[in-house]
Amino acid sequence: MKTVVILISGRGSNLLSLLEAELPGRIAAVISNRPEAGGLAYAKERGVATVVLDHRAYSNRADFDAALGDEIERHGDSKGPDLVLLAGFMRILSDGFVRRFSGRLLNIHPSLLPAFPGLNTHAQALAAGVRIHGCTVHFVTPALDSGPIVVQAAVPVLGGDTEEALAERVLRQEHRIYAQAVRWFLEERLLLTPGGRVELLGEGPPATPLISPAQA
Ligand code: GRF
Repeated sequence: MKTVVILISGRGSNLLSLLEAELPGRIAAVISNRPEAGGLAYAKERGVATVVLDHRAYSNRADFDAALGDEIERHGDSKGPDLVLLAGFMRILSDGFVRRFSGRLLNIHPSLLPAFPGLNTHAQALAAGVRIHGCTVHFVTPALDSGPIVVQAAVPVLGGDTEEALAERVLRQEHRIYAQAVRWFLEERLLLTPGGRVELLGEGPPATPLISPAQA
């Protein structure tokens, strides 16, 4: 059975949805860079190993990333886990770390990439006046929020939306597509082409167009 390690920094709602998704793999550990991360409790309640690796104990990014990589590799078989998931892990990872886990490192980002990389994506979307917003699961590459896209979900931006209302609408879709992407990976249905694109082997669910504002 394939093994998965999940990295978090906070609330952990994506972690919770992954823990409850009955994935065809074993979640071997949850690692947080913040001791107060609420998500750690979800793992503990379900008997999943938790580790806190506080980045503030390291004087530079390279040392922390090396220690994090070593900790990740302690879980799973001798080569470490098959898959590493960033689930609200709020640290920029060094090129060395990303290369170490290349092809087995996924992230969920709360925008329709390549629009709105970085932080405060919902505020960015509202400021830009887009009518459709969403979320993206992608493989992680050294450039921030720009690796090969696996799956995206779109939601309408509604008149009067606040950042919080929009964030909640997007988050519900994050929970759906992250579990879906992980399932595809564990079933060995994701193929990274030499051109850096993701191909899904076999049938995916039917895609429907989203038009916002809706037509009469
Ligand atoms: C999510 O919106 C995720 O896309 C972003 O950080 C947030 C984490 O939320 N990277 P949670 O900790 O999973 O609840």
